[in-house]
Amino acid sequence: MPVRKSSHLFLRAILSSAAALVVVTRFAMIPPLHAQMAGNQSSEKHDNWPREAVRGSHGMVATDEELASQAGVAILKQGGNAIDSAVAVAFALAVVEPAAGNIGGGGFMLVRLANGETTFLDYREVAPAKATRDMYVGADGKVDPQASLIGYRSVAVPGTVAGLELALKKYGTMKLADVMAPAIRLADQGFLVNQRLAIELDREKPELQLFAVSRHIFLNDGKPLHAGDTLKQPELAATLQRIAQNGAAEFYRGQTAHMLADDMAHSGGIIALDDLAHYTPKIREVLRAKYTTSGHAGDNVTWEVLTSPPPSSGGVAIIEALNMLNNVPLKGWDDVESVHMVAETMRRVFADRAAYLGDADFVSVPVAGLTDPCYAKELATTIDPHRASSSKAVHAGNPHTCAASSTIAAPPQAIVSLGEGAHTTHFSVVDAAGNAVASTYTLNNSYGSHATSSAGFLLNDEMDDFTSQPGAPNLFGLIQSEANAIAPGHRPLSSMVPTILLRDGKLSFVTGSPGGPTIISATLLSVINWMRLGMDAQAAINAPRFHHQWSPDQLLLEQSFPESMERALQSRGFTTLRKGRIGTVNAIGIDPKTGDRLGAADPRREGSAVGY
Ligand code: DON
Repeated sequence: MPVRKSSHLFLRAILSSAAALVVVTRFAMIPPLHAQMAGNQSSEKHDNWPREAVRGSHGMVATDEELASQAGVAILKQGGNAIDSAVAVAFALAVVEPAAGNIGGGGFMLVRLANGETTFLDYREVAPAKATRDMYVGADGKVDPQASLIGYRSVAVPGTVAGLELALKKYGTMKLADVMAPAIRLADQGFLVNQRLAIELDREKPELQLFAVSRHIFLNDGKPLHAGDTLKQPELAATLQRIAQNGAAEFYRGQTAHMLADDMAHSGGIIALDDLAHYTPKIREVLRAKYTTSGHAGDNVTWEVLTSPPPSSGGVAIIEALNMLNNVPLKGWDDVESVHMVAETMRRVFADRAAYLGDADFVSVPVAGLTDPCYAKELATTIDPHRASSSKAVHAGNPHTCAASSTIAAPPQAIVSLGEGAHTTHFSVVDAAGNAVASTYTLNNSYGSHATSSAGFLLNDEMDDFTSQPGAPNLFGLIQSEANAIAPGHRPLSSMVPTILLRDGKLSFVTGSPGGPTIISATLLSVINWMRLGMDAQAAINAPRFHHQWSPDQLLLEQSFPESMERALQSRGFTTLRKGRIGTVNAIGIDPKTGDRLGAADPRREGSAVGY
């Protein structure tokens, strides 16, 4: 079985960003990650990164962790389809990637079946019934930045188990117990701690040790786990076993629900049994856009982008950006004009994201206008191709469809996105029949709230993605609007954006990323690399990444950009900042000639593509 676990400089990368990642788990008074991750001004070579994708003629799974990729492929080989495999992967990551893999968080899954059917499963967490708009505001009128990040009060009602069960019921072919078997085994028998996990656990110690169950499981009762040690999680194994037997009802109404509600009651949390019993995953319509490029032989290739609707902000942003870039000649990331045009596009897209995006079940989001080519064309004319704009002069636009002129008198109050978080995880699966899954799920930042349920799973701190107080920054530096205010049953705005491309109507590319606001840039660049620049799958993942989010007015550049590029951008008026890595894109491409699956895991985090 072709396997790649990218052996490269990941340890160095982890160490170089370790300081930043530590503070990410702490509080909002920290400088944004832009500032934390600045430092080494020189370019960085990645000689040990894989040049070629893993090739398989049947199925392929690309995740952050080899054990999870293997679990997914094992299910494919047992005859499961991509959805069976994806559910197996998600449960396995909940065991072997505790920073982000989860049953105590939430996420999105984009499914495209070989027969053309598509769907988007939204199992984002929701605010519990007792949540209030000002629950993180102290008596002094100021936001308590820790309260929405660390501990039981920061937890939103988890959606993952309900979402995975729904995915399996709707599109899978196997029984829940069968697809959960690898995860149960990994939790019960344990797995070898790798160096990355050992470093992470040490880094997260100050927060993990605040909570008895976290201390017991992840800090091994004060005997730190090192690389090569075995991590067994018997409490999690028992919970997974009960879910395997009783279905998601176990998590939301059974023993697990009672354990979680008791944890909450005893530790100052506000999630009650009723919140769990009422959690519902949603099936949403996929966002779509079409483009044409010219192929090698001068023939036209048509592309369709399938991506994530609100409460993701990412799909709208990606379509708006691709629309704006539709007539812009892009040559590659060693070409300063190409970087300039994409950075200016990001600036404008993020200004719109800030103003308009929210949970569309409760607030009106002008999706049609924002994703309309006419609007994008107008917006693109505001870009000077030789000179960087100033974000002070760039405001949210007036989105409208071709059929109508703007109906919005003035854009609403903007939401400013400053930083990015430490972790979240994206995985992609394609099976032999051509069914595909792109899924991103999260506990919010690494290890979520750092509190672990007595049922053995880490709990998210997704409440921090809401507006704790208009004008006050959250963990990621997000100063958000009323549209994203805390209210019972609301889903906090997300950047996660699982995305699938079709080429001439056939499955072509499956992608997505973690990274807070940089999720959008990393995923957009992977799409441009594949669709517009014709890169090979692994090259599309390895290519240097950059990110502009309007505010602050800074262009983040990965270390691998040469200094000459940075100087050229600066001379055009960009304020640049170096960053260790942007995103972790675990993608799968389809070779248009052979149909082979090309597994391209991201070497930035030692990702693993496994195929057969
Ligand atoms: O849903 C979101 O947009 C955030 N909770 C994601 C956090 C994240 O990606 C942190 N990691 N890199």
